[in-house]
Amino acid sequence: MKVLLTGANGQLGNCLVDVFPSNWELIKTDTKQLDITDEHAVNYFIAECKPDVIINAAAYTAVDKAEDFPQDAYNVNVTGPKNLAISSRKYNAKFFHVSTDYVFDGTNNIPYTEEDTTNPINIYGQTKRDGEIAVLDNDPSAVVIRTSWVFSPYGNNFVKTMLRLATEKQQLSIIDDQIGNPTYAGDLAQVILYLLDQKIDGGIYHYCGDSSTSWFMFAKRIFEIALTQKVITKVPEIIPVKTQAFPTKAKRPKYSVMSIEKLGKYGLSASDWNKGLLHSITKINSDN
Ligand SMILES: NC(=O)c1ccc[n+]([C@@H]2O[C@H](COP(=O)([O-])OP(=O)(O)OC[C@H]3O[C@@H](n4cnc5c(N)ncnc54)[C@H](OP(=O)(O)O)[C@@H]3O)[C@@H](O)[C@H]2O)c1
Repeated sequence: MKVLLTGANGQLGNCLVDVFPSNWELIKTDTKQLDITDEHAVNYFIAECKPDVIINAAAYTAVDKAEDFPQDAYNVNVTGPKNLAISSRKYNAKFFHVSTDYVFDGTNNIPYTEEDTTNPINIYGQTKRDGEIAVLDNDPSAVVIRTSWVFSPYGNNFVKTMLRLATEKQQLSIIDDQIGNPTYAGDLAQVILYLLDQKIDGGIYHYCGDSSTSWFMFAKRIFEIALTQKVITKVPEIIPVKTQAFPTKAKRPKYSVMSIEKLGKYGLSASDWNKGLLHSITKINSDN
């Protein structure tokens, strides 16, 4: 099987490279090799390499920055996936695209299903929702996987920020009224690989961690593991604060827990994020 991976330098991209079977052919691309916003480059690249599968791990993920640079976010999160979807359909490749829990407004109090109405409350979420529509309009057989609160040993994420802050600060204020499911990017990578071999209908699917938490409780867990693993020597005092006390450019949904029941029918279980956290913290420490 020949697989084209875009955004190979990101969190998910790196995790996909880590778990990719050696007997399959992987063409991994970063922005320099294949800028997904360039329609002609995408068409040419896919016509030339003729992949069986395209996995789009590229995205504009800077949620606050997107408020100031909406066109940049649109180009990467809408135009890029649309370009890939046009080519996946044209050249008969199965297309896997990734989206986000931030397509929801967070007013639910039970887990969101794929059928729930989307209503993004920030530019990033809006561009990701527009990207989902652009993908499925242009390639109805595409599989769009929404995920949430992604972390890994790679790139920028909450876990790495907390480990850094633990060495710099005595005291941290962390939001405790936004609830979501952390997802280990390595588990998402395994799920995507598993699905490559399945006959899966085009459409939207949710995949995330096996339990919900707040950023405050997530930080607490990160510090517990980091201390036990001797990655940090002291835990900063952490103070739970409300969203209003911590203004950010982009609004965030208060509750973005997702149900993974639909993917569960394919025999998949949710990301064991505590296990993923232990692995990530250990690897971040050994890489430093
Ligand atoms: N991170 C999260 O918490 C989170 C939560 C929910 C959903 N998701 C979704 O999960 C997916 C993977 O996220 P991630 O955290 O792995 O993202 P990430 O670490 O930010 O990686 C995104 C990658 O996309 C690449 N990229 C940006 N613009 C590009 C372009 N024009 N052409 C080609 N590549 C481009 C970036 O490359 P450069 O570094 O060269 O710019 C980067 O390597 C995304 O669809 C994201 O929306 C993420």
